Amino acid sequence: MPLQISKALKSKLLDAQRIVFFSGAGISAESGIPTFRGEEGIWNKMRPEELANFNAFMKNPDLVWEWYQHRRQIMESKHPNAAHFAITEIEKYYPSVIVVTQNVDNLHRRAGNTHIYELHGNIEKNYCVRCGQRYDYVRFEERRTHQECQCGGIIRPDVVWFGELLPTDQFSGAEAAAESCDMLFSIGTTGIVMPAAQIPVIAKRAGAYTAEININRTEQSALFHEILSGKAGEALSLILEYIREVRTPIQ
Ligand code: OAD
Repeated sequence: MPLQISKALKSKLLDAQRIVFFSGAGISAESGIPTFRGEEGIWNKMRPEELANFNAFMKNPDLVWEWYQHRRQIMESKHPNAAHFAITEIEKYYPSVIVVTQNVDNLHRRAGNTHIYELHGNIEKNYCVRCGQRYDYVRFEERRTHQECQCGGIIRPDVVWFGELLPTDQFSGAEAAAESCDMLFSIGTTGIVMPAAQIPVIAKRAGAYTAEININRTEQSALFHEILSGKAGEALSLILEYIREVRTPIQ
């Protein structure tokens, strides 16, 4: 059956003022970036405890650095897809559209989304573990071995590793957005990684209409008012089409 949006969702889209898009790896799947879980998922092929934690990095920085260089190269060669661009368009129709993403791939920003909270960091950013000096958007592409700061400290990717806290400013901004939105869409995430997965819960508890867009059911599906069962690009394009029919751009 072709993907459809319900009457209830249409009526909410007509009246909403503040929308949050909470995204996970599935939104970038149509750009060709592998997700984490599932048959072809990264965590099926790689061991997170060897690559995505601080102790592993300090023990073998070259290995971890090389893996992140590899992922950076993949992400740089990929492009935002219809789902990312639909959100950028939707921004024009509402006073507040906020993206809360668990992705580190920078594709929302590259698609032109302007208000983004990155809960798990950004693979294009780095900082020194000793002095905190930032090396954002510095291209290290020819360097397969780990990099050092002028202070002699090791430069690490600005991504959240297992056992680490989320960046406080990003999480508190996301929480505030979830508490004050009228609608939240959860897109392409299994919704099992805490505390990020709290974001849709907070929105629902605060009274927002919540919808999940996913090709599969998830452990969080029961939370949502509505499920759009399909690909992110298709579902968000449909939503954008409807918004264009019933609302006027405000910017
Ligand atoms: P997962 O890999 O756990 O889940 C991806 C979700 O996207 C699954 O529910 C898929 O069914 C769905 N999906 C795949 N293709 C899709 C498509 N075209 N359209 C819609 N949905 C699609 O990724 P996340 O939930 O983002 O954390 O993972 C959360 C966190 O776990 C990541 O941020 C990462 C990882 O460990 C850190 O690195 C800290």
